[in-house]
Amino acid sequence: MSHNLLQGKKGIIFGALDEQSIAWKTAESVCAQGGKIVLTNAPVALRMGTINALAEKLEAPVIAADATKLEDLENLVDQTLAHFGGKIDFVLHSIGMSVNVRKGKHYTDLNHDWMAKGWDVSAVSFHKLMQTLYKKDAMNEWGSIVALSYIAAQRTFPNYNDMADNKAYLESIARSFGYFMGKDKKVRVNTISQSPTLTTAGQGVKGLDGFLTYAEKTSPLGNATAKECADYTVTLFSDLTRKVTLQNLYHDGGFSNVGVSQDVIDALQ
Ligand SMILES: NC(=O)c1ccc[n+]([C@@H]2O[C@H](COP(=O)([O-])OP(=O)(O)OC[C@H]3O[C@@H](n4cnc5c(N)ncnc54)[C@H](O)[C@@H]3O)[C@@H](O)[C@H]2O)c1
Repeated sequence: MSHNLLQGKKGIIFGALDEQSIAWKTAESVCAQGGKIVLTNAPVALRMGTINALAEKLEAPVIAADATKLEDLENLVDQTLAHFGGKIDFVLHSIGMSVNVRKGKHYTDLNHDWMAKGWDVSAVSFHKLMQTLYKKDAMNEWGSIVALSYIAAQRTFPNYNDMADNKAYLESIARSFGYFMGKDKKVRVNTISQSPTLTTAGQGVKGLDGFLTYAEKTSPLGNATAKECADYTVTLFSDLTRKVTLQNLYHDGGFSNVGVSQDVIDALQ
């Protein structure tokens, strides 16, 4: 159902790899609400993924950018501003990757070069992106920037590995840069802490099935889907949330505030 919440708004969506991606669903939801988008992903993901099918459907250009490279981000922002003929209103950072998770390295035996790479991709890229937007004065006032996080930033989930540390850092960057984005540009910055979701990145985490079932049984409303996350993001891009900033917003069916649920107790007895 469309309410045209994003009519007249333009922005960039990072991280649509395939139909399961949270960014893919967000691109669809944003366009269904009247928004116009530029899609972007790392060059290697553009070769492997199916983003062109999405781009065709949504009539959106695809501009390659490795989010760890400032020159790629600068080119992306320049090309986006030229494409729209003016500034943008929203950006979704939906990027995560841990080499240690990919290669099955245990947290007590991390390869620290891989740790630094995952940190750069999953957290520092958010700073690089906002610094590029800030310096180029690329955002309209009352614009909105969202990045996706996970509750392992606050609580221990052993198999989430070094991604937990990356998410804690990501959330901190949202607050630190969000201050200057608010003061100087009147742009808001938030992270959404999403339920475990079956996606390519999600499937990399050992024991994701167990995560999903446990969270489902714990959350009074059940796990939030990728499509529901997309719809929540639309509200944060809309003019209905102009004074929400520097927040880590849980979108998890209530999981984050439950101690233990009766369903989990019953399953253990
Ligand atoms: N799936 C989950 O359970 C879950 C839960 C909470 C938060 N998240 C977060 O949601 C976001 C999106 O992940 P997803 O689950 O949709 O998986 P996904 O695998 O579909 O998306 C991850 C994206 O990151 C992109 N990426 C990796 N390296 C990049 C780089 N150097 N430059 C640009 N892009 C790069 C990938 O190409 C991919 O499109 C991530 O931040 C993830 O941590 C996922």
